[in-house]
Amino acid sequence: MKELVFKILRKALQDLKVKIPDEKLESLIELPPSQDMGDYALPCFSLSPIMKLDAHEIALQVREKIGNIEETDFSSIDVTGPYVNFFLNRKSLARQTVWDIINKKASYGSSGLGKKKKVVFEFSSPNVAKPFGIGHLRSTIIGNSLASIFEFESAKVTRLNYLGDWGTQFGRLLFGFKKFGNEKLLEKDPLKQLYSIYVKTSKKMYDEKAREWFRKMEAGDKSSLLLWKVFRDVSIAKLKKVYKQLGITFDSYEGESDYNKKAKLVLQQLDKKKLLKKSSGALVVDLEKLGLGVALMEKSDGATLYATRDLAAAIARYDKYKFDFMFYEVGQEQKLYFEQLFKILGLMGYQWSKDCFHISHGLYLDSKGKKFSTRKGKTVFLEDILEKTKTLAAKEIKKRTKKISKADLEERSLRVAIAAIFYGDLKNNRRNDVVFDLKRFVSFEGDTGPYLLYSYARASSILRKSKPQMRKFEVPELHDKELSLAKKLSQFPDAVANAYRSLNPAAIANYSSELAQSFNEFYHACPVLGSEEKETFRLALVESFRQVMKNALTLLGITTVEEM
Ligand code: ARG
Repeated sequence: MKELVFKILRKALQDLKVKIPDEKLESLIELPPSQDMGDYALPCFSLSPIMKLDAHEIALQVREKIGNIEETDFSSIDVTGPYVNFFLNRKSLARQTVWDIINKKASYGSSGLGKKKKVVFEFSSPNVAKPFGIGHLRSTIIGNSLASIFEFESAKVTRLNYLGDWGTQFGRLLFGFKKFGNEKLLEKDPLKQLYSIYVKTSKKMYDEKAREWFRKMEAGDKSSLLLWKVFRDVSIAKLKKVYKQLGITFDSYEGESDYNKKAKLVLQQLDKKKLLKKSSGALVVDLEKLGLGVALMEKSDGATLYATRDLAAAIARYDKYKFDFMFYEVGQEQKLYFEQLFKILGLMGYQWSKDCFHISHGLYLDSKGKKFSTRKGKTVFLEDILEKTKTLAAKEIKKRTKKISKADLEERSLRVAIAAIFYGDLKNNRRNDVVFDLKRFVSFEGDTGPYLLYSYARASSILRKSKPQMRKFEVPELHDKELSLAKKLSQFPDAVANAYRSLNPAAIANYSSELAQSFNEFYHACPVLGSEEKETFRLALVESFRQVMKNALTLLGITTVEEM
């Protein structure tokens, strides 16, 4: 419906010879805070400087240009002070919205904003040979959701996982395994074994050894590479299990190791462009004049670096995908790093560097506001977190459901746990830090993932008890709560568009929460089953709610459950 208001206003402003970009106009259209101020409003203040008129006068002129209106769409369009207020024809709003949802089903909410766009999303990108820590969880959750939102808006998305599988830390592991390693333990629980070696060798006294072994790897030493490959393979197998459990997929796994040779070519290219400078034996690109410091490209011992490999990877990806945009979902601590990376690509002459973006996020904090991942000096592993959340979820489920099989309980508590963690993260603006409070995340009440699942399951339960004849419905005189639910449902496409444009899934997460709230109010005020002539419409409304909630949750990476 916002679309219609937008079109009417655009036409009126064109007739008034006011030039305003579509996006600007779109952002001006407001949802008034209360029903008696209309369903949509245009505040005219910001047109004052353009039209050189008082805002009230502008509102009157806009209203005049709009002229007569279709009564099927609007009951009235009025001017109050500086506002043009649009009052929708409520019955037709409700009818159209419900009809639209029931017909479009899983695609309701998409406006096709990403049509014909090729987009590469790199996210998660953990370092292998280490258990999956909570540090990479945010990137995984946010990246997955954004990739889904872009797919939903019809973009052609490539989901990419760029594994940290090369670098001095592997020299450390190789050397450490020779010194402290245990083949049997490696077979039994590879990541635990590797992690214990990593901890034992993360000491200054072993730094030189680590470099020495990494040089061997870079020089192509067969036996080192053989062992490295074992470490890499067992880690990836384990990672894939984790992603499967979380319901997350990638189109391609890359690793830094794929680019160590190409990194050497990048160095030659940089040299040709006269971008390299010697600095205490190492090679750097000096970006000081651009306020971006100095970027290290090759160590004094000739070893390649994270940054050089990233340059090579970006170039290879452009060749392969010819993307319109490439997004890197990585924590904010790498902000400067990515600014340097994109700048260097630009200096190398790659026009497309302007289409690369770092999507950053804040930290997870514990309840005391401390950085979560280093609590008590220990890394927190995703596996443990997931287990703990599942146990909490199972407790809640058992409180509500007497009879449930072991397998069902297992499945349902996993889904509830994922909903809890994903929503607990995504309801926040991604740039902000998030207090990672599992107890709160997993609660069935309040603004939580489980509460959203619960409202969905409630709708499912109503529909299960009814006869399946929802396609035909008559819109009766509308109860306030029916109207606000229909209105909320009609706003879903706006929420998705908003999340797409701002690269922020929180727009959808917050929408879902308001939607659940609105459904809850409707449900308490309006009995559905047995409401006689109102039943067909109310059932259709419940069905619409169920569909939209499912679409919204899917975009957050959350799978619904039919019973809670
Ligand atoms: N593996 C890196 C880390 O854990 C993140 C990789 C981010 N992506 C990139 N292309 N640099 O810090």
